[in-house]
Amino acid sequence: MAANAPRKILVTSALPYANGPLHLGHMLEQVQTDIWVRFQRSRGHDCLYVCADDAHGTAIMLAAEKLGISPEQHIESMRERHIHDSSGFLIDFANFYSTHTEENRKWSEDIYGRLKANNHIASRTITQAFDPEKELFLADRFIKGTCPRCKAEDQYGDNCESCGATYSPSDLIDPVSAISGATPVDKESKHLFFKLPEFEAMLKQWLDSDTLQPQVANKLREWTDAGLQEWDISRDAPYFGFEIPGESGKYFYVWLDAPIGYIASFDNYCQRTGHNFDEYIEPGGDTELYHFIGKDIINFHGLFWPAMLHSAGLRTPTAIFAHGFLTVNGTKMSKSRGTFINASTYLEHLDAEYLRYYYAAKLSNSVDDIDLNTDDFIQRVNSDVVGKVVNIASRCAGFLRKGFDNTLSPECAEPQLLADFIAAGDNIAALYEQREFNKAIREIIALADRANQYIDDKKPWVLVKEEGQKAEVHAVCSVGINLFRVLMTYLKPVLPAMAAKSEAFLNISLDWTALESPLVNHTLSKFKPLIQRIDPKQVEAMVDASKPAEQNTPTAAQRPVTQTKSDDDMQQAETIEFDDFAKVDLRIAKITAADHVEGADKLLQLTLDLGELGSRQVFAGIKSAYQPEDLVGKHTVVVANLAPRKMRFGVSEGMVLAAGPGGENIYLLEPHDGATPGMKVK
Ligand code: MSP
Ligand code: ZN
Repeated sequence: MAANAPRKILVTSALPYANGPLHLGHMLEQVQTDIWVRFQRSRGHDCLYVCADDAHGTAIMLAAEKLGISPEQHIESMRERHIHDSSGFLIDFANFYSTHTEENRKWSEDIYGRLKANNHIASRTITQAFDPEKELFLADRFIKGTCPRCKAEDQYGDNCESCGATYSPSDLIDPVSAISGATPVDKESKHLFFKLPEFEAMLKQWLDSDTLQPQVANKLREWTDAGLQEWDISRDAPYFGFEIPGESGKYFYVWLDAPIGYIASFDNYCQRTGHNFDEYIEPGGDTELYHFIGKDIINFHGLFWPAMLHSAGLRTPTAIFAHGFLTVNGTKMSKSRGTFINASTYLEHLDAEYLRYYYAAKLSNSVDDIDLNTDDFIQRVNSDVVGKVVNIASRCAGFLRKGFDNTLSPECAEPQLLADFIAAGDNIAALYEQREFNKAIREIIALADRANQYIDDKKPWVLVKEEGQKAEVHAVCSVGINLFRVLMTYLKPVLPAMAAKSEAFLNISLDWTALESPLVNHTLSKFKPLIQRIDPKQVEAMVDASKPAEQNTPTAAQRPVTQTKSDDDMQQAETIEFDDFAKVDLRIAKITAADHVEGADKLLQLTLDLGELGSRQVFAGIKSAYQPEDLVGKHTVVVANLAPRKMRFGVSEGMVLAAGPGGENIYLLEPHDGATPGMKVK
């Protein structure tokens, strides 16, 4: 029957920029997407989730330059880290690609070619701010100056963080290039534009078509009502991106080829797996396409992208799902409060599934912001997941093991209760489908309360001591396990690892479509703890680790551990506590430059690439063993959180670790594929 035929669904989440690590805001989006995708699969649908890094643009070019590496190296190491972090959060991508790939070049050129052939590309000369020193056109955010309204200094070219005024960079008082400090000059250049106004009718219809959430459609109507403007899709060299065919020295603006990256990632997936590609991008088919995005990028996805696809004769998305922004403890994520938390920092301290559960418990289908309140987080996870859901299994498992050989009773003693649990599945599924995860979780936890109440009423721990009640204990605990099975099936999209452990315990796979047959006469495996309670100390440690290094160093700096010792001292070195050691942030660094230091006979000045921590200048006493040119490209371990020290020749921002007796024998690390700059050393 058509109604039951598996749907063919392609899902994306926004492509994270390849110029920084993923943080808990990115994870909100990926977790939301992943839960929805896993839910679709649990209902028997064919659902694929593709993503990629957004690798182009001036910011990435400048970041790589600062690190002394090529943009290609920079984006590749970022991509590895993004994949690592996402997989830590159990995000199940079919493919995580990059926009800097041949597939994306091909599709960008192809789509641009179609827009051009349809006469949807205009070209005209515009005047822009230009950095005469760096020889680079300056986007608004690369210009700084004094706010024309409140006179606050050092404000960006498009808005003032102090008074909130918005303006154009030419309004700034004493504008300077944020890159070189030079005073920008006006310069003309030819730019290419996508003729968005020609899509007004199409877009108005699209905005009225229920493809978008009401709040999003309303916001975008402000754009159409104000009159659509042509969209500048070209940037001048130097730029890291794809050169526009037939336009030398002009590149596609990063936002032109970024959404095309969705297609490119899926194309690459299909090439690797033989999956059908065309039916997902040609119009008129029965496949579905959804983009999960944050509310800050709705104009790109809700206006420019559908218009481009329409012009190119490709299908438009079935829907766009926008979410709100993550705040932590009620405010914007902040580095100084330790609430700007990187995905990797979280994973060093806490289990991914805690956050997956918490996000699910808060997410709805609206664009409202979501607050991660750290106290509520601990309380919610411990009380719901550990105290309610896992509790059902753990309290029944003991009795079943001791008295019944881990085997469930021959029939279900509470068919009505179990039937109620199964019947609730339709509503829970509908809530998942509509991305009302918070409501789905509320339903599931209400069922968990009912299951616990049932066990509390029956009191197997009392029955077990009474004569002639053995069968009743067996019956009650078997019902408990059956209820637990239903609940974990509903929670599987949110808690895939805990579901896998439950499957091992239950000796079945948790299959939403197989719930109708209860587990009777069925033998369980040994019960192992499914998840630990959150210890508030773990959260504290995570917040601490997210604070800027200088806020953490004073105590460390007072300790002998950070003092340098000569070789002779080594034997008598006093022991340190583990906590002292744990404060030392050891990282892999790549030496990107090495120079002689004038007047110093032992020291070399090294420039180190520490990945996400940026680049550092360090003086190291290794001149007896190395010529500067031999050091470039080598890896070393550095103490990354050593307070900067002013030395006679300059400030040293860290300490390089090396091994060996000295003289000509001082050994650093050889580069290794698995070691990327900035990686923690454990
Ligand atoms: N590269 C663009 C997207 C291109 S899509 C073709 C971009 N990258 S981003 O790294 O800045 O953001 C990626 C996604 O993360 C976006 O959907 C963005 O809304 C989301 N988030 C970034 N910070 C966020 C929060 N603090 N909270 C929730 N989501 C946030 O935009
Ligand atoms: Zn101001």
